[in-house]
Amino acid sequence: MKSKKTFVKLFMGINTCLYFMTLFFNIGCVESQKIASKSGVLLWAENCQRCHNTPSPTSFSAEQWETIGMHMQSRALLTENEKNKIVAFLQSASN
Ligand code: HEC
Repeated sequence: MKSKKTFVKLFMGINTCLYFMTLFFNIGCVESQKIASKSGVLLWAENCQRCHNTPSPTSFSAEQWETIGMHMQSRALLTENEKNKIVAFLQSASN
């Protein structure tokens, strides 16, 4: 009898846990949609000064930004979409 109660408690505990996890992941989705809507210039301003000064778009050519973008994508752990937006911004404002 006692073990059955423990089982029910455990089961309810897991359910509560799943409920909060679902809530958490839903919030996570809303958050990543917000991030996905950020512009290249905003992502550049927010991310590229975490490790060094924000590089000016004019400091490299459009082709160089392509390569740098790939390299910094792995350094800064950016998604493909974020990297593309940042590179597009840097290229549009580069020489
Ligand atoms: C996690 C840290 C980190 C973040 C975030 C980061 N970088 Fe870097 N960056 C580095 C490091 C470290 C180097 C030095 C080269 C190397 O070892 O990769 C570097 C070098 C560079 C260079 C070459 C500098 C030179 O004068 O040769 C450029 C340009 C650059 N980063 C641009 C960017 C851009 C644009 C972003 C934003 C998308 C960015 N970085 C975000 C770490 C970072």
